[in-house]
Amino acid sequence: MRIAPSILAADFAHLADAAAVSGADWLHVDVMDNHFVPNLTLGPPVLASLRAATEVPLDCHLMIDDPDRWAPGYAELGAGSVTIHVEAARDVRGCARDIRAAGARAGLALKPGTALDRYLEVLDEFDLLLVMTVEPGFGGQSFLADQLVKVRAARRELDRRGLQLWLQVDGGVGDDTIEACAEAGADMFVAGSAVYGAADPAAAIAALRAQAVRAGAAGGGAPGAPR
Ligand code: DX5
Ligand code: ZN
Repeated sequence: MRIAPSILAADFAHLADAAAVSGADWLHVDVMDNHFVPNLTLGPPVLASLRAATEVPLDCHLMIDDPDRWAPGYAELGAGSVTIHVEAARDVRGCARDIRAAGARAGLALKPGTALDRYLEVLDEFDLLLVMTVEPGFGGQSFLADQLVKVRAARRELDRRGLQLWLQVDGGVGDDTIEACAEAGADMFVAGSAVYGAADPAAAIAALRAQAVRAGAAGGGAPGAPR
């Protein structure tokens, strides 16, 4: 069970402090371009500075148009994983290969309205599958519980084919929703407001992890178990 605090919910004037939070397995970095989503956040220079500021691997979530062109650059800057949106990519398979060739794990993200079915054949090109549990663009939104069906279906598919992708949920994940996500088969949890909005972010991470571990075990736990 991996917890990835999303620095979107942190104070952008103090990103190094946000990156220093203890207990984070990964730091989730939301890149938005004002085109694919109606919000603008940060890009390569900030990612490079974050890379220099922390040892924690960076999980780069690209909510941008034309990831085919831009995604490998984030891997070259040292992101540990680079996730692209299927809705934005022209050549999903080629994009994954370029990310991996540049040395990062490749992630595939689905917006809430995007079905998994059409992308089953490309899963083996990826290391991570992100099921968005809010519409991408903003932190602090309410969790879309109907996306749990997709998480469950994804978990079944990964287990059936023996694929080792990490199954990530992002959006509205907190102490009231993380258990349902873990029971459905997610094993990587992005949390913005639930971590950086807490009085003690490190304690929030520890509590979320404990909930995920407990609920994951109850929901079938290890990959391969029936769900
Ligand atoms: C939304 C971003 C999320 C966001 C989640 O487009 O992809 O990573 O930071 O924020 P919370 O956890 O507050 O919903
Ligand atoms: Zn994100």
